[in-house]
Amino acid sequence: MRPDPIRVVLGVSGGIAAYKACELLRRFTESGHDVTVVPTAAALEFVGAPTWAALSGKPVATEVWADVHEVPHVRIGQSADLVVVAPATADLLAKAAHGLADDLLTNTLLTARCPVVLAPAMHTEMWEHPATRANVTTLRQRGVLVIEPAEGRLTGADTGKGRLPEPAEIFEICQEVLAGVSRSGDLAGRHVLVTAGGTREYLDPVRFLGNRSSGLQGYALARAAAARGADVTLVAANVALPDPAGVKVVRVESTAQLRDAVVAEAPSADAVVMAAAPADFRPVDVSDAKIKKAADGSAPTVALAQNPDILREISTERARPGAVIVGFAAETGDDTGTVLDLARAKLARKGCDLLVVNDVSGGAVFGSPDNEAVILGADGRVVEVPRGSKAALAHVIWDEVATRLQD
Ligand code: CTP
Repeated sequence: MRPDPIRVVLGVSGGIAAYKACELLRRFTESGHDVTVVPTAAALEFVGAPTWAALSGKPVATEVWADVHEVPHVRIGQSADLVVVAPATADLLAKAAHGLADDLLTNTLLTARCPVVLAPAMHTEMWEHPATRANVTTLRQRGVLVIEPAEGRLTGADTGKGRLPEPAEIFEICQEVLAGVSRSGDLAGRHVLVTAGGTREYLDPVRFLGNRSSGLQGYALARAAAARGADVTLVAANVALPDPAGVKVVRVESTAQLRDAVVAEAPSADAVVMAAAPADFRPVDVSDAKIKKAADGSAPTVALAQNPDILREISTERARPGAVIVGFAAETGDDTGTVLDLARAKLARKGCDLLVVNDVSGGAVFGSPDNEAVILGADGRVVEVPRGSKAALAHVIWDEVATRLQD
C-alpha cells in the first residue's frame, strides 16, 4: 500500500513575489505532495485563483465562508503536515505574531500543529522596521521557521534585503523540515562517527599538501544524525565551520591524526561515515624550519610516502560487528572507465557497506551548498539522489544506514 501523500498547505499573501509561489507549488506537486493553496484576498490581486486551482488540482478558498459545512478554517490547519507561507508579507507576519484570524490563511495558522515555515518578502525598510523585527522574534520564539529574505533587486528600481528566496531554496528548506519530522528519533540510542574536511600534510611549519574539501557535507551529515537522535562524534580536519549543535567535535590536521581518532571511536560506533578527504600521501621528511629558496634557483624535491587507507582499514578490521561503514568517492571518469565503473571497483576495494559517489568533473561540489550523488550498496542496491542540498543528501545517506542497522 502506498503511504498517504504528505499534506502541505501553501499560504500565499499579497506581494508581487506571489508569482514565484507557482514554481514552489509545482515543486511540491511534482514530489507527490498533496498541496492545498490558501491565498489571501490580496494575493489574488497578483495571481488569480484559477492559476492556483489548476496547479494544485484543488479548489482554492480565501475566506472562511466557502464550504462552511466542512469547517475549513479548522480542518485545513489540523490535517496539515507542513504549512509554508511564501511570500509572507509584513502584514501576514504581524497577524501571525499576534494571533489574528480574519481570513482562511490566518485561521489555518492558528489551528496548525505541524511545522510552519514563513518566507518573508517585502521592502528592506519594512523588514528592518522594529515592528517587523519584534514580530519575527516572537514567531521564531514560538518555533516558527522564518526564513531570512534574500538580497537583491526589489519590486521597483531599488535593491536590498527583502527578496523572496528562490523557490528551489524554499522547497529544500521545507524538505529538510519534513525530513526532520518524519525521521525524528530513528537513530536514537545509536552512536555514529562522521569525518569531515580535508587533511593537511606539512612540509615545514608553514607549508602543507592539502585538498579542496570544505567539510560542508560531513557537517550536514553530523547535523542530520543529531536531529534524528544519534549520539554523534564528528572528526573534523581543518574545517572553518561552526560546530553543529549537540555534536562532539574532535579536531585533527593530518591523515595520521584522523586515523587515530577514527580507530579510537570505531569500536563503539554503530555507523562510520567517512566524508573526509584524507591526503593519500605525506612528505617523508618534515622540516622543523621553513624551507628556504636555494641561491642557485633550484627547487627542492619532495619525497612522498603513502598514508594509511582509513576506510579500508576499518572496513577490514570491523572493530564492531554489524556496524555500517560508509565511504565517499569523488570521481572523474577516465579512459579506464566511467565514474560508476570506477566507483564500483572502489566499493569492492575498500570493503565498505555503502559508497556515496560524486562526479567531480569540473570541481562542482567543492564548497557548494548543493550536491548530487549515487549511493552504491555492497548488497547491489543503487540509490540516485538528484541535485539538492547537502542536508537532503545527508538524510538519504542516513536512511540507507538506518535500514542496515541491526537491532
Ligand atoms: N579515504 C580514507 N583514507 C585515505 C584516503 C581516503 O579513509 N587515506 C576514504 C575517504 O574518506 C573516502 C574514501 O576513502 O570515504 C574514498 O576516497 P578517495 O580519495 O576517492 O579514495 P582513494 O583511496 O584516493 O582512491 P584510489 O584508491 O582511487 O586512490
